[in-house]
Amino acid sequence: MLNIAVLVSGGGTNLQAIIDAINLGKITGARITLVISNKPDAYALERAAKNDISACCINPKDYTNREEYDTAMIKALSKAGAELVVLAGFLVVLSSRFVKAYEGKIINIHPSLIPSFCGDGYYGLKVHEKVLERGVKVTGATVHFVDDGTDTGPIIMQKAVDVKQDDTPQILQKRVMEQAEWKILPAAIHAIVNGEIYLENGRVIYQNKR
Ligand code: GRF
Repeated sequence: MLNIAVLVSGGGTNLQAIIDAINLGKITGARITLVISNKPDAYALERAAKNDISACCINPKDYTNREEYDTAMIKALSKAGAELVVLAGFLVVLSSRFVKAYEGKIINIHPSLIPSFCGDGYYGLKVHEKVLERGVKVTGATVHFVDDGTDTGPIIMQKAVDVKQDDTPQILQKRVMEQAEWKILPAAIHAIVNGEIYLENGRVIYQNKR
């Protein structure tokens, strides 16, 4: 049974999608052993509590420097035996020390089709505002391995979603979550946990040769 840690900052709908997928058997061979939020009031912590999943808040503001924050995070993850770290709406930019400690074992869900609408400053609703501003007709979500950059790691899965005429950022965000994020994040986790997808020399290898 592979231990997953999920890092969150907000509502936790992607965390919920992972919890539901495990309960429904869409993710096999894994359990969530820890949820960490950087925000004490994140509803994602409620979701963890309701599902009897250990959760804690590790807030960068409580540490005098980045080094100490990283040490606290790495300590908590290693205590939980985390073998895969999932960033699900997590808004803290990870340091290279943290990424190195879990090299090749951190994945992230981003609410656009990378390399469009990603990188510094592109998160949450802002992504969908920019999508509508640019007038693209298709957007979606991406699951990728995390490297030293922002949204620059090797892409694992993507799913496209139509942009509709009267979309507002909120309507579009909801559609991208429902039709893309909540599907590809659990699917990517299941594939990684079951060895169908893995990282080799910086490239994503698909066992079933998709
Ligand atoms: C979602 O748009 C997700 O793509 C982004 O953070 C937002 C909040 O996600 N990474 P959640 O509801 O907290 O999972």
